[in-house]
Order: sequence, then C-alpha cells, then structure tokens
Amino acid sequence: MNHELPFESYLISVARPIKITAQKEREQIIREQYYNLFKIPSPKVMIDMLTDSGTGAISNEQLAGIIVGDESYAGSVSFEKMKRAINDITGFNFIIPTHQGRGAENVLHSAIVKDGDVVPGNTHFDTTKAHIEFRRATAVDCTIDESKETSNEHPFRGNLDLKKLEAVFLKTPKEKIPFTLITITCNSGGGQPVSLSNILAVKKLCKKYNIRLFFDMARFAENAYFIKTREKEYQSWPILDICREMFKDADGATMSAKKDAIVAMGGFVALKDEELYQKCATYSILFEGYLTYGGMTGGTMEALAIGLYETTDFHYLQSRITQVHKLGRLIKECGIPLIEPVGGHAVYVDAGKMLPHIPHAQYPAQVLAVALYVKGGIRGVEIGTVLADRDPFTHQERFQDHELLRLAVPRRTFTDNHMAYVASVLGEINKEKDKLKGLKIIWEPPILRHFTCRFAEVD
Ligand code: F0G
Repeated sequence: MNHELPFESYLISVARPIKITAQKEREQIIREQYYNLFKIPSPKVMIDMLTDSGTGAISNEQLAGIIVGDESYAGSVSFEKMKRAINDITGFNFIIPTHQGRGAENVLHSAIVKDGDVVPGNTHFDTTKAHIEFRRATAVDCTIDESKETSNEHPFRGNLDLKKLEAVFLKTPKEKIPFTLITITCNSGGGQPVSLSNILAVKKLCKKYNIRLFFDMARFAENAYFIKTREKEYQSWPILDICREMFKDADGATMSAKKDAIVAMGGFVALKDEELYQKCATYSILFEGYLTYGGMTGGTMEALAIGLYETTDFHYLQSRITQVHKLGRLIKECGIPLIEPVGGHAVYVDAGKMLPHIPHAQYPAQVLAVALYVKGGIRGVEIGTVLADRDPFTHQERFQDHELLRLAVPRRTFTDNHMAYVASVLGEINKEKDKLKGLKIIWEPPILRHFTCRFAEVD
C-alpha cells in the first residue's frame, strides 16, 4: 500500500495572511522578550508550530455546524449530536462535555483518584501527570524501553511493557489502582503510536487483575492510522472499525478535542458505567458547567461531532501524516538528528545531539528554538531541561537525557511549502551551528517556569 498522498487532502476556502517580518525585527523582539518564545505576539510569528492543539483549520461543514449550534443551557440538540458521534466511535454511552482535555482529567480524577493511589500508563502527558500528583497519587511509566532511545525502528514506540505493568499490578493493592491509562498517540514520547495487539494485551491483563482501563484519546485517529499502515492484521480494516476495536470493552476515555476532533476548544469524558458517570457528573457541574454543555458552546459541540468523522477519514489522515513525515524527512536530509520514526503530530529535533557544544545547563533546545525564530520567524517549543523544571524538594535542575525541540504541525493549516521552508531554515542554522551561544535563566517563577522565565545569552 502506498501510504503517501501526493497532495493536501483539502482545498483552502478561507485564508489567513501571514505578516512577513524581517530578521532584524525578530532579533529585537526576542531580546526584548528575554528569549522566551511564549512571550512573542502571534503576528510576529510567521510559521507557528508551538502546538497542534486548537490550531487546526475547521472545515466548511464544521463552520456550518457552528452556525446551527443549539446554545440552550439545558437539553441542547448539539450535545445530543456530539454524544451520538462519540458513542458511535468509542462505544461509550455516558458523555460529559468539558472545556478542554485537562478539564476532562479534572472531572475524572476528582471522582476516582485518591491520596496514595497509583496510575500506570505509557508516559502520561504533563497535565495528566499533574492531575495525578496534585491528588498525591503516583503516575508510573510503563512504556517499553525502546521509547527512551531517540532513534530506533520500533513501529509502536508508545507501547506498554506488559511485564512492567503486571509488576505494578502485583505489588500494589488493587484498591490503590483506580485505572490504567493508555495515551494514544503517546505525546510525551514523541507522538508515538500504540499497536492494537498491545492495546488488546493490556485489556486482557487489566481484566485478569480486575483493573479499570481508560484511554487519553487526544490523537486517537492518528493512532488508528498507524495501526492500519503498520500492523499487517488490520491493513484492510476501515479506520473507524480500528477505533471501535481500540475502545471496545474499555471503561472510558478523556479527550482533548483540540487535537484530533479539530476544534479550537473542547473536550469530554466518555464512560461505560452509569454509576461512575453519576459520580463524575457532580464534579462536572462544579468545575465545567451543566451536563449538556460543560464549558463548550453548542456550535463547538456540533463542530466536534463533525470533526470526529472528518478526522477518521483515511485520506485526511494519509495527507496529514504524510505532511508531518515529509517535514521529518527534509530535516533529516539536512543532517539534523531527530526522534525516529517520526510520530503523528510533530517532529522532535534532537537539539542536544545537534548542538554538542552547548551543555544541558545552557539549554540547547531553547537555543535552537530561539535561532529558528530569529532566522525564520518559526516558533517551536523546547521539550527538555527548561520544561522539566526544578525538583520540587531539592530545587536542583532536572537535566534531561534528551534536549528536544518539538515542531508541532497543526491540522489542515500549512501546505508542504511551509514545511519545506521550515526544513531549509533549520538546514541553514545547521551550517553555522557552532556560532550559537548557550542561554542561562536570569529569572524564573517557582513552578511551570517555561512559560514565563527569562533567559540571557551566555558570553
Ligand atoms: N492529553 C494529551 C495527550 C495532550 O497532548 C494534551 C495537550 C492534553 C491531554 C491536555 O489537553 O490542552 O486540551 O487541556 N497537549 C497540548 C500540546 C497542550 O501542545 O501537546 P488540553
């Protein structure tokens, strides 16, 4: 099967002009903003690859949905439509809308995660881990060891290691494990997929030990695409059937709909069990809103329902993943190291390897992010020691094994020309990389420093 589509799977009907800036202007802006890219006003960014969350282009059908959305406080028809779509794809009957993914995590975790609990999974996303730790519980990473190397050919680097998972089940009292979590795709591991055979094996193990199984399904359709194209047994399966098989017999899911449902804002908790739904409903009303909108507008719920089907269209996925992989290939051709194989939503450049003259303590991935902005007006994000923050007890830096620059690709937003431009700017930087200087932090807040900390160049 040829997995590449030779053109984008969409026509552009509404265009947003890019404001062109000059390198001199960007040099001044980055200095004024203390080399922190979160502080750059968006009109001063030409190609924004900070995230693929809430940054996709809605379709004409979704736009029509936004207009017809039912904004009733209670009993919105748009909620019913969204509920039917989620139920059709996941099989879960009880749906709680939330304002975004972490809202869904808050609702679910408030209901079932307690002090001293243990939640095993495949490299939990930051907000998920934070919600677990906020409740004095522990997230245990059971991802396969292959995920720790930046480059190996494993086609499903998001897989869970069944031995690690079973070890957690064996040494933890059952009542201390509220659920096992499979994140598809595994964002923190580089947008890496989990195979269906691994999902089925985890289900079996959870059943044996009578532990609930949940999914973080932010990028579920991209995961299904990798299953179809990399797992022989499922080659002939339609994407929707693969999705249904992934979720079958599980206990529920949380979703940040800003990713694979291609809406600017929204999320949900989806549950099999009515009793758990009733428990979660209380927290939903408390934190999110009434049960038929939960922080979303009627229009957004319509768009979400439509987005869930558009995102599971094979040709859409083929075009999307082809674009991300094309970017990876072009960057690699410039001799720049990256996480391989490239995942579903982003390319992760190995800045630590690319800039060996810059030590961890001078944040090589932040240095590369700044250089990419200055040279090309492109914004990526540091996934390394800056993001890892200080140890909360010792206040020491937590130096990371890998200093990565993530270039996330929003859905249906860029053309391949934009991707070629990004790779060529990185290629230019690579030629003069020895001139790049390290950075030091001159001010930082007590937590979540990456959003606001200030840097200065090291002499
Ligand atoms: N789970 C995963 C796997 C995510 O990637 C994210 C967000 C969330 C949960 C939280 O969802 O932002 O809607 O509250 N990831 C974004 C990113 C922020 O850039 O990767 P949210």
